[in-house]
Amino acid sequence: MTVLVTGGAGYIGAHTVRALSDASRDVVVLDTLERGNRNAVIDAKLIVGDIADQKLVAKICRKYKITDVVHFAAYKAVGESMTHPMKYWQNNVASTIKLLETLISQNVYRFVFSSSASVYGTPKSSPTTENESTKPESVYAETKLAVENILNSLTTAGMTSVSLRYFNAAGASSDNKIGEDWATSQNLIPRVMRALLDEKFKFEVFGNDYETPDGTCIRDYIHVEDLAIAHVKALEYLESGGKTMACNIGTGDGTSVTELLEMAEQVAKRKVPHTIGARRDGDPVCVFADATLARKVLGWRATHDLRSIIESAYNWHSTNPNGVR
Ligand SMILES: NC(=O)c1ccc[n+]([C@@H]2O[C@H](COP(=O)([O-])OP(=O)(O)OC[C@H]3O[C@@H](n4cnc5c(N)ncnc54)[C@H](O)[C@@H]3O)[C@@H](O)[C@H]2O)c1
Repeated sequence: MTVLVTGGAGYIGAHTVRALSDASRDVVVLDTLERGNRNAVIDAKLIVGDIADQKLVAKICRKYKITDVVHFAAYKAVGESMTHPMKYWQNNVASTIKLLETLISQNVYRFVFSSSASVYGTPKSSPTTENESTKPESVYAETKLAVENILNSLTTAGMTSVSLRYFNAAGASSDNKIGEDWATSQNLIPRVMRALLDEKFKFEVFGNDYETPDGTCIRDYIHVEDLAIAHVKALEYLESGGKTMACNIGTGDGTSVTELLEMAEQVAKRKVPHTIGARRDGDPVCVFADATLARKVLGWRATHDLRSIIESAYNWHSTNPNGVR
């Protein structure tokens, strides 16, 4: 029984490969390395290639006796998805269809998918449950919902899947071996870390006049190692006969940008240089998870708090300003 991890040389994939190895799983990674790095793949075989390469994927399935797939491979930049929509439909959806077609032809029927809380758009209520209506507000989010819908339709073809709707992945590995690259990430925590550690970097907070207690947006930051373990739990769920579902993966706690900056200042013991800019189009005011389903059905819950996330990120970025490159 071997798990194929697509996109396993990327940020979340690389942490998940390690979580799977820690759970004594055999793992093979398939990644183009377009947006990942081979140095991030620890304790697993890396095959450099594309999920849309059906001959290659079929060969991998046969050679390594693949039984389960964890599918991270995709593009993830919301802004880029709006300026280059076709690129996102092509890679995130069309290539995933090719991957799924190959897997079914090779009798591989268990699939864990990296979906996103962005499928909810601006949720009517937070904490947000899986029953919230889906209203994607970007092409990126549309592609995630499209794959969820495809997976729902494939139950009749025998495939069972869990679409994990991640909230905001953050932090670095506890042993400081892998983490995010601030040169390529648009996420808040790498930008805060860069503001602390790179004096040339200009960091702007997008708006402090929202209807929240301190005026800044609220999000649910989930430690990447907790997120990684959710994939192990999702595979166990499918292997024990669990049905296709979508499931939130978040802490259930909302953190404002101001609260996050205060924690970063406590950890780094100095001020985070920043300016306050205008609101950014399309930023929902407040999004955090109701993680009850993950707890009840997957037996998963977050173990790291915000301080632990920030400490691991600060440790990582202070010692690895070039990421894993
Ligand atoms: N980072 C987050 O906060 C977040 C939140 C919600 C969902 N997600 C989803 O989780 C997944 C992983 O995110 P990440 O932050 O690790 O991204 P990442 O960009 O670090 O990793 C993606 C990896 O996939 C590879 N890849 C892309 N297209 C490929 C293809 N066609 N064939 C083979 N490899 C390919 C890239 O080279 C890269 O290594 C993505 O699907 C993303 O949409 C991420």
